[in-house]
Amino acid sequence: MKCSTILAASLAAGSMATKLLLPLYQYPMSGVWDPVFTAIEANPNLDFQIIVNVDTGPAGSTPNSDFVTGVAKLNSYSNVLTLGYVHCSFGSASQDELSANSSDWAAWNAYSGANTSIGGLFFDETPNTEGTTSDVTFMTTAVEAAKSAFGSYALTTIFNPGAAIMHDEFWTLADYNVIFEDSASEYSDSVLTSNIPSGKAGQSAILIPDFASVGTAAEAQTWLQAMAAVGVGAANILDYDYIQATSSEGPAPVALVASALVDVVDAATSAVVSEVSVAAATSSSVAKTTSVAPTTSVAKTSVKAETTSAAAKVTTAAAVTSAAEVTSVETETETQGSPAAVVTVMTTFTTVTSVVIVTAAPEVVDSVTVAASSATTTSLNRHHHWQRAHKVVS
Ligand SMILES: *[C@@H]1O[C@H](CO)[C@@H](O)[C@H](O)[C@H]1NC(C)=O
Ligand SMILES: *[C@@H]1O[C@H](CO)[C@@H](O)[C@H](O)[C@H]1NC(C)=O
Repeated sequence: MKCSTILAASLAAGSMATKLLLPLYQYPMSGVWDPVFTAIEANPNLDFQIIVNVDTGPAGSTPNSDFVTGVAKLNSYSNVLTLGYVHCSFGSASQDELSANSSDWAAWNAYSGANTSIGGLFFDETPNTEGTTSDVTFMTTAVEAAKSAFGSYALTTIFNPGAAIMHDEFWTLADYNVIFEDSASEYSDSVLTSNIPSGKAGQSAILIPDFASVGTAAEAQTWLQAMAAVGVGAANILDYDYIQATSSEGPAPVALVASALVDVVDAATSAVVSEVSVAAATSSSVAKTTSVAPTTSVAKTSVKAETTSAAAKVTTAAAVTSAAEVTSVETETETQGSPAAVVTVMTTFTTVTSVVIVTAAPEVVDSVTVAASSATTTSLNRHHHWQRAHKVVS
């Protein structure tokens, strides 16, 4: 069987990289936030939105010494936006109390001992009942009060109804809306289509706590990549509750989530997405294939292959479906005239609907080979258009 591949036209990537949204509700005792600092430093191209929470709020207009140290450290990184926590109690919070808390967070900007500035507010428990007008009134008042308190300081607003947005006005009132916040057992990729209105992916955020008892690291990566593929604005998968946000014991610690997202960040900044159309397949013609034996089957397979070259990265989008046949994807990169064969992958799957090659220098990718057994020829002929701004192929 023949294996042929075609590099199709380049598409401009719609570079809206998915940020890592982290409810960091732990008290910054010495060392507790260190895994977060490490992840920030290891991923300078990934933007972090980090929510600090002293005591279901700011607990005053001046940070205590532990928060001074912790927040100043967060603010020392150019890829971090620090947000303060306030809660709306689904519309039953007192507006006076809410605005007093927003003002307290704003006051952290003026603290003189260190840079404890707060660049945004996370409005937890946003009221979001279909058919009401009071929710919009409530949130309008809350945001106006916050903006007034922050004055000339920049203010990013995130609403957290944690579900599909029932009020179109929220897309205007807030910079981001959390359109899903629930445990991992309730999540599937269908949320990306059911809860995100057309054109709103970049303003949508997803938070999935309690992942440890449900998923594997590979699944976490797959979900994050699918989110990034549709251009979700900010996301996170956390192993436990937010008060254990820095735990590294589960399958999806912050280090893993950050590195899963950063691959897509790199892709977005590369400005070029080339699409491969797989015309036919055979393993016999595959030159320079470094086959990687299929590892165990993973239910949700979105395979990514990292290249050994900094110039190229390979991702197969969320475009593959389960079980067994295709065993390797290869790219060759020409770097300074010497081909560097780069392969990785894979878990096993039956159908490849597309392979996405993202490279900072498109000319260095000269061929892509998909090797498959005879059984997959037909399915490999399927070709789906894929780009970041589109829905994940199902
Ligand atoms: C305001 O902040 C205090 C102290 O952090 C907190 O106890 C209270 O629940 C907060 N209220 C609102 C409405 O955010
Ligand atoms: C404080 O940190 C924030 C966030 O990194 C930054 O935007 C701001 O410029 C810093 N302020 C000063 C005075 O350095």
